[in-house]
Amino acid sequence: MAAVTKHAPGKIILFGEHAVVYGQPAIAIPVSQLQATARVTPLPDELPGRIRLEAADIHLDVDLSDLPADQPLAFAIRQVLGQFGAEPTPALHCKVTSTIPIGAGMGSSAAISVAIIRALSSFLGQSLSNDAVCALAFEVEKLYHGTPSGIDNTVITYEQPVMFQKEQSLQRLSIQQPTWWVIADTGVTTPTRQMVAELYQRYEKEPEFYTSLFTAIGNLVREAQTCLVQGDIVRLGELLDLNQTLLAKCQVSHPALEKLISAARNAGAVGAKLSGGGGGGNMIALINPSQSETIVGALQAAGAKRVIVTALKGT
Ligand code: PMV
Repeated sequence: MAAVTKHAPGKIILFGEHAVVYGQPAIAIPVSQLQATARVTPLPDELPGRIRLEAADIHLDVDLSDLPADQPLAFAIRQVLGQFGAEPTPALHCKVTSTIPIGAGMGSSAAISVAIIRALSSFLGQSLSNDAVCALAFEVEKLYHGTPSGIDNTVITYEQPVMFQKEQSLQRLSIQQPTWWVIADTGVTTPTRQMVAELYQRYEKEPEFYTSLFTAIGNLVREAQTCLVQGDIVRLGELLDLNQTLLAKCQVSHPALEKLISAARNAGAVGAKLSGGGGGGNMIALINPSQSETIVGALQAAGAKRVIVTALKGT
């Protein structure tokens, strides 16, 4: 059997995080500068059934059989093996690497799952449809995030801008005008799972208040979809700022995020907000490309740990 390597991109949520967990739409785009990679190679000298899993970023180099059922990488591998019932599985080495920062809202867990699922199924001579890859990756996301909406595994599997809504068919966005985005990391990490769980506790205490915030977010996401497709930069910027205000009311922002958001706006960004689970992690800003250097500099001066500029081109 020949070695197989598969990649999957990172992602960023532009609009609608958190509210998406409560059934509202959200918009996300792939970030191809960042990649998770899974390489599966045969181990011809080993007995069938031996699977060595290596993920240096999380200090893992073990036999699959030594990992518990709920270890996400092991779960991803076992799901694929379960699909194909390859008995006995040829001995193999699965090596996972990633340039996507962990726990920063850039889809690292979903990208790793998608890369593993694609590489292993292909190594075993099977082809999985995007829908099947997405569904398997969603099962792994549940181990990481508890009650994920499914947006990460979806945008990463299809590698296209999407408007995602739970239990609705996927809407792929056809972008007519390019837009430029800056993504900056606060360096503060809070697990998405914790942010989602804490917001749920607040929601349970005041369901009407939070439902009204989620509904307002959903409405602005629908408007943002049109603006994004048509390239209405000015209104998109206003919607980003409005989304940030609503997320702050949900108490998922963080002083480190607020600092970077202000720095980007003061340096001329069209609009800015947190992206992903919040409580730290990343912020995004919509920019005019001519201002890229100034805004990147301002974010670095304000303490950003990593700044990426990405273009969302016509699709
Ligand atoms: O932190 P991220 O980018 O992985 O995304 C979290 C997005 C939430 O809406 C907060 C949770 C979810 O499952 O959609």
